[in-house]
Amino acid sequence: MPTPRVLIAFYSRAGSTEALANAVAEGARAAGAEVRLRRAREVVSPEVMARAPGWSEAASAMNDKYEAPTEDDAEWADALVLGTPTRFGSMASELKVYIDSLGGLWFKGALNGKVGSVFGATSSRHGGNESTLLSLYVPLAHLGMIIVPLGYSDPLLFKAGTPYGATHVSSSNKNAPDDDHLAVARYQGKRVTTVAKALRSSLTAA
Ligand SMILES: Cc1cc2nc3c(=O)[nH]c(=O)nc-3n(C[C@H](O)[C@H](O)[C@H](O)COP(=O)(O)O)c2cc1C
Repeated sequence: MPTPRVLIAFYSRAGSTEALANAVAEGARAAGAEVRLRRAREVVSPEVMARAPGWSEAASAMNDKYEAPTEDDAEWADALVLGTPTRFGSMASELKVYIDSLGGLWFKGALNGKVGSVFGATSSRHGGNESTLLSLYVPLAHLGMIIVPLGYSDPLLFKAGTPYGATHVSSSNKNAPDDDHLAVARYQGKRVTTVAKALRSSLTAA
C-alpha cells in the first residue's frame, strides 16, 4: 500500500498554531504518513512588522525551521491540512496568499478529490476559532477537496477542539496549547492520514 503524503501548511506568529501543526504532524506520522511541514511567509512590510515587538525575530526563527509551502507541495500531497491564527474572525492573509497561489492547480483540477482539513488558534474563547475554520472550508470546497472534519468522532472532542478542526485559545499568547488540545491535533493528523490512505488505495485499485 502506498505511503499517504500529508502537507501541513500553516501560518503562526506567536507559536500556538505552530505547536498545533507539529502535533498534527506527529499524529500523521504515527499513522504512517510522510509529512511535509511548511510555514507561510509574511506579506506585510518590514515597517509594519517592526511595530509589533518580537514579530520579526519570531518569524526568522520559524522560517529557519520550516520551508515555505509551494505549489509542488500541494500537488505532491494526498492531504492538505491548513492551520492559521484568527485574524478578525477569519484566516490570516499570510495563509490566504498561499492558498491563492494554488490557482494553477485549481485550473488543472489537480487538487480535486484530495483530502483537506483545518486547524487554528485565537486569543479569546469566543474570538472566532469556528468562523476561522469555516472560512478555510470555503477555498477547500472550490478546490474540489474532500473536507475531513473531526465531528465528535473521538471522546477527545468532548474535552477540547471543535467539530471543524483542532483549536487553541491563547489568551493574548500567554498560554501554549495544553495536552488535551495537542491530543486533538494529533488525532486530526491520524484521522486525515486514515482517510487519505483509504482514498489512495481505492483510487489505485480503480
Ligand atoms: C491583526 C490581528 C487580528 C486578530 N484577530 C483576532 C480575533 O478576531 N479573535 C481572537 O480571538 N484573536 C485575534 N487575534 C489574536 C491571534 O489570533 C491569537 O493571538 C493567536 O493565538 C495567535 O496564534 P499564533 O501563536 O499561532 O500566532 C488577532 C491578532 C492579530 C495580530
